[in-house]
Amino acid sequence: MSKILLTGASGLLGLNLALAVAKEHQVYGVANTVPLSGMGFSNIQAELTEPGVVDSLLEQIAPDVVIHCAAMANVDDCESKPELAEKVNAYLPGQIALAAAARQIKMVHISTDAVFDGRKGNYAETDEPNPLSVYARTKLAGEKAVLAANAQALVARVNFYGWSVSGRRSLAEWFVNNLANNCPMQGFTDLFFCPMMVLDLVDTLLEAVAKDLMGLYHVVGPQAMSKYDFGCAIAHRFGYDPELIRPASVQEGGLKAARSPDLTLNTHKLVTSLGHPLPGFTAGLQKFYDQYLAGYPQFLKSLA
Ligand SMILES: NC(=O)c1ccc[n+]([C@@H]2O[C@H](COP(=O)([O-])OP(=O)(O)OC[C@H]3O[C@@H](n4cnc5c(N)ncnc54)[C@H](OP(=O)(O)O)[C@@H]3O)[C@@H](O)[C@H]2O)c1
Repeated sequence: MSKILLTGASGLLGLNLALAVAKEHQVYGVANTVPLSGMGFSNIQAELTEPGVVDSLLEQIAPDVVIHCAAMANVDDCESKPELAEKVNAYLPGQIALAAAARQIKMVHISTDAVFDGRKGNYAETDEPNPLSVYARTKLAGEKAVLAANAQALVARVNFYGWSVSGRRSLAEWFVNNLANNCPMQGFTDLFFCPMMVLDLVDTLLEAVAKDLMGLYHVVGPQAMSKYDFGCAIAHRFGYDPELIRPASVQEGGLKAARSPDLTLNTHKLVTSLGHPLPGFTAGLQKFYDQYLAGYPQFLKSLA
């Protein structure tokens, strides 16, 4: 059993990760503004950007691994609050990496596919990023700061979906909520990505830690698709009407921050390092649906 210090424990990735691994590992989850209770792991409230907080947490808990999921992850909020995004997404990861390196603690840092401008697609780790938004620019600065401070760290560029405490955090939840309420919605046919179900991401990250992978890795699903196709796949799996999703261009969406059109990532490096293919999209979507049938979304809401 490992001792895991997990930041962002109230977030979409952090909470799913904490709940999934708390039975086998000793998990210390850090949340900030969202109070959680009854989750089966140790919950710590902390504003991580406050001076001294990171060092004191690592000193007190002395984890085997710190998984840094906390971020300002709402792309449009980052556009409105660029200084805060800089502090949380760019500066904080480097501070955690330094503090972890000083204590020989393994660090996993979560970054994003959005560091690319999306003109090419099928990006490898060796491709040059070109961030288009405040979120993307600050996340790229964060991953650079981590690798500069701590060459043993694993930096994972991810894209995932799952159920969240608010029920509104992931694109998949947005599709399910609208479909369930018979609300017509747009699905962008000109934005491409490689979504991975959050439980598959959790398993893949833990395997990468167990194999002591370090450096930069693309950790996304093996299947590329448009956001429209993603919505239709969800509608079919849940038995809702896919006609409620109108194919549309992102230009029609009125979104604040610029979006990269093709954020499909190449996972050859990861697949080679792990020695097996990544979990498939259909099986991942089935897990998302099974959780829905089992009442997992209501369970998550009850924690906050
Ligand atoms: N969601 C996606 O599809 C996606 C795609 C690509 C990459 N990512 C990356 O994946 C990671 C996890 O994203 P997510 O969607 O799970 O994020 P999320 O749901 O927005 O959760 C963010 C978490 O960070 C915590 N946090 C933010 N600022 C903090 C601070 N100053 N001090 C302490 N905690 C703080 C929040 O705590 P409170 O809520 O308690 O305040 C929350 O637990 C991020 O690095 C994100 O950039 C996400």
